[in-house]
Amino acid sequence: MKILDRPRRLRSLENIRELVAESSLSSADLIYPMFAHFESDAREEISSMPGRFRLGRHALLKEIKKLEEKGLKAICLFPLVEEKFKDSKGSYSYSEKNYYLDLLKEIKDRFPELVVMTDVALDPYSTDGHDGIVDPKTGEIFNDETLKVLSKMSVAQAKAGADIIGPSDMMDSRIKVIRESLEENNFKNTLIMSYSAKYASHFYGPFRDALDSAPKSGDKKTYQLDFRNKKIALKEARMDLKEGADILMVKPGIAYLDIVSLLARNCAAPISVYQVSGEYSMIKAAGEKGWVDEKQVMLESLMAFKRAGASMILSYFTPEALDYFQA
Ligand code: PBG
Repeated sequence: MKILDRPRRLRSLENIRELVAESSLSSADLIYPMFAHFESDAREEISSMPGRFRLGRHALLKEIKKLEEKGLKAICLFPLVEEKFKDSKGSYSYSEKNYYLDLLKEIKDRFPELVVMTDVALDPYSTDGHDGIVDPKTGEIFNDETLKVLSKMSVAQAKAGADIIGPSDMMDSRIKVIRESLEENNFKNTLIMSYSAKYASHFYGPFRDALDSAPKSGDKKTYQLDFRNKKIALKEARMDLKEGADILMVKPGIAYLDIVSLLARNCAAPISVYQVSGEYSMIKAAGEKGWVDEKQVMLESLMAFKRAGASMILSYFTPEALDYFQA
């Protein structure tokens, strides 16, 4: 028997494997999604996301400082909003009184190098828990009326110093409207990372617990993408690029690697991927039970995103990954 083709040669030694590795992962690839709490002293663990917290001002700044020393480069901040400030139009999102905007400002003052990304959608601010304004009679999510709020919210966040605006709402034409408002207000260098391919997913459950932002009625299927479909992801991504997005995101992550790969090959823009709350919680839970090796499954998932073509990853595992890179 003569075997000439032996692929195992390339796997025969650790250092050979390192030489031929096609993907790599480092702290420079990660964006840490964090949850802000309106009470400065708060530090509340999210029950469906063990090890992750809603942090008030003090704990948040402390946590960022600690992680920055370990190599943290970027965060994406989400606000928990007090019930009394919620209304049907999400007007607190751009109010002078919005504690989230003050926090953004303070974070950028204290950590000027840190890249700070925001979330643009109505759900944390809305009494309806939807990303857009809801027609009280029919339950329809208004597109064009919502755009006005999104644009005010984006400008308020840019004013507070946000580096990257992250529209996660999935309204039609939002990138165009936000880009125009940013230009009009002279925020020429503010980036837009569009949630271009954001699917209507059940993997978002723990996130909605974290922000108490679940829809009060209906679901998000009239604006988020249908998970049976692929072509629409490419269409949305190309539209967003034309409308002025700088970075295109795919969300959720691990069940959507085909979409990451599709956009990475077909769009002339950096691709990001969001390993969402449910993905974190599933790996965490199986790890806690001893059914999988949490650290290794986390690294394998993150590496898979890079292999599929993502340039950056939003991951709740960022602290654990930073510890691993340091070790
Ligand atoms: C809100 C928003 C959601 C997530 C990010 N921004 C939830 C949703 O659309 O219902 C999900 C993130 C996660 O699950 O980690 N527009």
